[in-house]
Amino acid sequence: MTSRLKPLFAALLCFSLPFCAWAQTSTIKVGEYASLTGKEAAFGQSSHKGTVLAIEEINAAGGVLGRKLELVYEDNQSKPGESGTIATKLITREKVVALLGEVASSRSREAAIVAQKYKIPMISPSSTNPSVTEIGNYIFRVCFIDPFQGTALAKFARSHLKAKRVAIVTSVSSSYSVGLAKYFKEQFVAEGGQVVLEPKYSEGDKDFKAQLTAIKAAAPDAIFVPGYYTEAALMCKQARDLGLTQPLFGGDGWEAPELVSIGGKAVEGCFYSTHYSPEIPTEAVKSFVKRFKARWNGETPDAMAALGYDSAAVLADAIRRAGSTDAAKIRDALAATKNLDGVTGRTTIDAQRNASKPAVVVEVRNGEFRFVQSVEP
Ligand code: PHE
Repeated sequence: MTSRLKPLFAALLCFSLPFCAWAQTSTIKVGEYASLTGKEAAFGQSSHKGTVLAIEEINAAGGVLGRKLELVYEDNQSKPGESGTIATKLITREKVVALLGEVASSRSREAAIVAQKYKIPMISPSSTNPSVTEIGNYIFRVCFIDPFQGTALAKFARSHLKAKRVAIVTSVSSSYSVGLAKYFKEQFVAEGGQVVLEPKYSEGDKDFKAQLTAIKAAAPDAIFVPGYYTEAALMCKQARDLGLTQPLFGGDGWEAPELVSIGGKAVEGCFYSTHYSPEIPTEAVKSFVKRFKARWNGETPDAMAALGYDSAAVLADAIRRAGSTDAAKIRDALAATKNLDGVTGRTTIDAQRNASKPAVVVEVRNGEFRFVQSVEP
């Protein structure tokens, strides 16, 4: 090096060394978008609490690649159109290395389009509509998908409820509802069942008397409501008010304390399928329930909390195996996830970037969600 270049080199070194040190000690930013308020606040709150617990535990154990994880999150108020904007902001301004979210499939789809465009990996904890991960090779999920959930519910309706004729009430503005209705129907008909009526509604509707009156006239053995808890609870109430006595049942979208607080007596004896139950007697679940309760004021974690937790754990594991926070490397590591033990079982990411896990059927008894059976994939 010529003597003229030496000071320049020294200056460069002075500037870059602290930068290197900073890069080593700075946090790894993880973005999360969630329905923390609004119509599905119960979903967002629960999932978020699980995610926060996972990140705190990972950090307490030393973090990832010697750095702490920092969760940067924002509320989409359960509204359509917000998640894409939040995803853009988290990616371009906050420079998050990955995105976690959402519960509801329609909102996960909105953010997934943005994540795929910027090639930033996204993990949905609990969106079950197949189209979410079909958006592209950067989009993953840690739960089962609705072709499996729909099949499990159809078998349950035939064997457990002994239903031969059902009515299906679908929310046309929810990709989750439309998909689950379709997969259920295919299997139910294949099992010799008959769908006698398929009335529709839209997210946010409050009056279902017209649909229920038509169902009353058709007199099915059971009523399938593949929707979210607010509408499902109101529907159960109005069905009982109209004198309908058939069992109503749904999918994971029913899981929220609000199902009981809104539905009251009307949801007694109703069933739904979901991803996990705090009553599952494994060590992993017992310990998770204990840690979650200790962290969140005695609250019992539901399926969204468990999947929110697992989504963060799967991401941390991938960053560790990638040995880097480079988005493409994290993506490849996520795609290679195999047999990672979690609260909701073992996560293995398949070629379609989905996970395959058992479903759990739950019954509402005395205002509580009681575990009925597990359905293996
Ligand atoms: N699976 C639902 C969806 O895709 C969301 C959900 C997951 C609701 C888990 C409750 C529990 O929209």
